[in-house]
Order: sequence, then C-alpha cells, then structure tokens
Amino acid sequence: MYKCRICLNNINPFMSFGSQPIANGFLKEHEFSEEYFFEMETAFCESCNTFQLVTQPSAEKMFHENYAFFSSLSKNMRIHFKMFAEMVMEEYFIDRVDPFVVELGSNDGIMLQNFMNNNFRHLGVEPSSNVGDVARKKGIKTISEFFSLDLAEKIIKESGHADAVICANVMCHIPDMNDIAQGIAKLLTADGVLIFEEPYLGDMLAKTSYDQIYDEHVYIFSAHSVMNAFGRHGLEIIDLLHQETHGGSMRYVLAPKGTHTISPNVEITLRDEKRQGLNSIETFVKFKANCEKSRSNLVGLLKDIKLQGKRVVGYGATSKSTTVLNYCGIGPDLIDFIADTTPIKQNKFTPGCHIPVKSHEDFHANPPEYALLFAWNHATEIFEKETQFSENGGKWIYFVPSVEVK
Ligand code: SAH
Ligand code: TMP
Ligand code: ZN
Repeated sequence: MYKCRICLNNINPFMSFGSQPIANGFLKEHEFSEEYFFEMETAFCESCNTFQLVTQPSAEKMFHENYAFFSSLSKNMRIHFKMFAEMVMEEYFIDRVDPFVVELGSNDGIMLQNFMNNNFRHLGVEPSSNVGDVARKKGIKTISEFFSLDLAEKIIKESGHADAVICANVMCHIPDMNDIAQGIAKLLTADGVLIFEEPYLGDMLAKTSYDQIYDEHVYIFSAHSVMNAFGRHGLEIIDLLHQETHGGSMRYVLAPKGTHTISPNVEITLRDEKRQGLNSIETFVKFKANCEKSRSNLVGLLKDIKLQGKRVVGYGATSKSTTVLNYCGIGPDLIDFIADTTPIKQNKFTPGCHIPVKSHEDFHANPPEYALLFAWNHATEIFEKETQFSENGGKWIYFVPSVEVK
C-alpha cells in the first residue's frame, strides 16, 4: 500500500514495468557494475485521478551536470516552442507593463530565447547545469536550481512576481506537486497565468504508448488530475489545448480562481475524459493487458528478424526507449546499436540493456534491413532526413500505436 503523492489517499500499484535504470543514464562499460535500478510500479489514484509512479529515484540522480537531453536538437520542437512563446506574448502579455516570465526546466533555452529576443524580462530555472550553461551562453538568464516553494520566495525577493510561469515536459517530473503548486501560486501576480504542457494520459492510454512512463515522468496528467492538484492551491484551469508533440500532449492554462474567463474547452475535455474512462481503474487494467501484448509482439518480431539473419538498428536513443528495452528484455542480441544525434550519448551504452549508441553516420555507413523507430514522436522530422533509407529498401519498425513494419 502506498499514499497518493497529491491527495495522500491509499493507492495500490496496478502494474510493474520491472527493474528499470535511470532512463537518461547512458553509461560506459566500466560503469555497468555500479548501475542503479529501481522497481517501476504504476498506480492510479481513484480519489484525485492521478496516474503516478509509486517509487521515483532522487532528483539528483536524474538531473545534474551530465544530463543527456538537449531540447534544441529537434528542429520541429524549436518551431513548436517559438509558437508557444508567441501565444504567451500575444494572449497574455499584451496589456501588461514590463511583464516577467519564469520558465521551469528551461533546458538549453529553446523556449526562453524567444522572450529574450523580444526583450521581455525572463528567468529560467534549470537544475541540470550543463544544459543551463548552453542557455546562459546564449544570454538567457538561467539559474541552476530545482524549483520549489523556497525558490519561489527567493525569486519574488530578487525579481518580483511573475506574470506568467511556463513549462513544458517538466511538471510531470516533479514529485512534490503540493510544494510546487504553492510556489507557483505565490510567485504569480494576482492575475498571472501558469501555462504548461505535458504528455497526455488520454493519448498514452489510446496508443498504448507505455514508453511515456520512465523514472523522470512521475505523473502522466489528465485535465482531471491537474484540476485536483492545483485546485487545492487556489488555481483553476481556464483553457486546455491538445498538442501533437511528444506523441500527444495537453497544454494546461491556469490562473488564480475567478480572475479569468473559462474557455468552453475545459468542460468539453473533462466530459471527454469521463467518456474515455480516464477516471476509472478498469481502463488501467486494460492498459496493462495492452502493454503485455505490445511487448510480446515486439519481441516476437525482433526474434523472427534475427532468425532470418537480418539486422535491426534503433533510431533515437530516447529516454522513452529505456522503458521499452528493459520491460521487453531487448539487448544487443536483438538490436545492433542505436543511432542518436546527441554527442553526450554517443559511444556509450543504453541504460540497463547496454546496447551501444552510435551516430547517424554509423547508421548511414552500414544501413540495416530494419530501423526500430524509438523516436516515433519525431517521425515527421526523421522521415524528411531519411528518405534514402526507405528508397534503398530499408523498413521501419513501429511499436506505437501497435507493432508494425512499414
Ligand atoms: N522544457 C524542455 C526540457 C524538458 S526535460 C523541453 O520541453 O524540451 C525536463 C527538464 O526539467 C530537464 O532539463 C530537467 O533538468 C528539468 N527539471 C527537473 N526537475 C526540475 C525542477 N524541480 N525544477 C525545474 N526544472 C526541473
Ligand atoms: P525525445 O523523444 O525525448 O525528444 O528524444 C529524442 C531523441 O532522439 C534524442 O536523443 C535525440 C534523438 N533524435 C535523433 O537521433 N534524430 C532526430 O532526427 C531527432 C529529431 C531526434
Ligand atoms: Zn490522489
């Protein structure tokens, strides 16, 4: 029995993804014997509707000076965050005098650079100092700390209240949501806005994209869970905007209760969630069965390919792939290597299953018969670059929404 991280009611894990390492913990051979693992079990709180990990490694184990995820490597995400920033500036900054924006988990400055370029007061809070350094080099104001209620008070003292607190793919990383929500509520001006987007529970369940679940993602949110988590700290949802990024995300717009008009999107989405069963434990029991089916189909396919004497290379050493590889037990016997653009991941091994990570040049130099698309959320961008692979007869393996070869 565990306690829900949001409402403290009793919860029971409905499934385990087995022993999992740090999803972004790419490592060298001499580090294998010291590798850290935890049992990754998931639970759904029927009282506040929050999907969560019952155990999460400490923040310092995951976010540090060697963090392996650099946001700006994706061209389409650079475009996406430019549009996100423009939406904030046009819809929420227009009537404000010298507005101030704070971004949590600002990484290498992919979003904040747009505010800097428009001369807006800004501050990035980014605990992983190596990615924060990239932002600082661009001239973006960034502090390398974990956001918390204490830090919010420090920011208010030094820079005043924020007209907007924004973040993307960060809120679901922070276990102590009550502390964070209090910090944000305090940091905002009386009519400030909180805008964040995260992988959406509705998409994960509909697509069986269980790879969204890994150590960093302690929550997979829905509108219901966000409403419950922030409602207890004086904030309400004023708009909801579904996004196609990261395989299906939701953008949540919140504000202090009673300060903004509420978009009809809110009622519509809450109704849709009830209809999709996002608040019912039976949906998660079904999800578990779907994950098991996906696993046996993927492993079966890879073994068949191996028996035919053909090669498979992974495409994109994503953090998500760590869950897939370790849950399915896929190692270097089934996948030769994984190609990835991130220099800090190359010439290392994947966490847990120890598949070598190489560059895309290695992929092009000796193309395999099959490429397993781990970075399926970046498919459009990748296919634009990899037309040659398909033209030469190479086949893509998908595992979301179902295992398929195309
Ligand atoms: N916003 C970027 C980066 C997402 S990765 C994007 O969408 O591409 C998650 C980021 O959150 C990491 O850079 C990590 O260092 C940061 N992070 C983790 N815990 C945090 C916390 N408590 N406060 C602020 N940032 C945090
Ligand atoms: P993400 O799914 O968490 O955004 O991670 C994407 C990973 O895939 C990251 O390690 C970079 C890598 N990648 C490539 O190797 N090639 C590409 O074209 C893209 C877009 C990403
Ligand atoms: Zn709860």
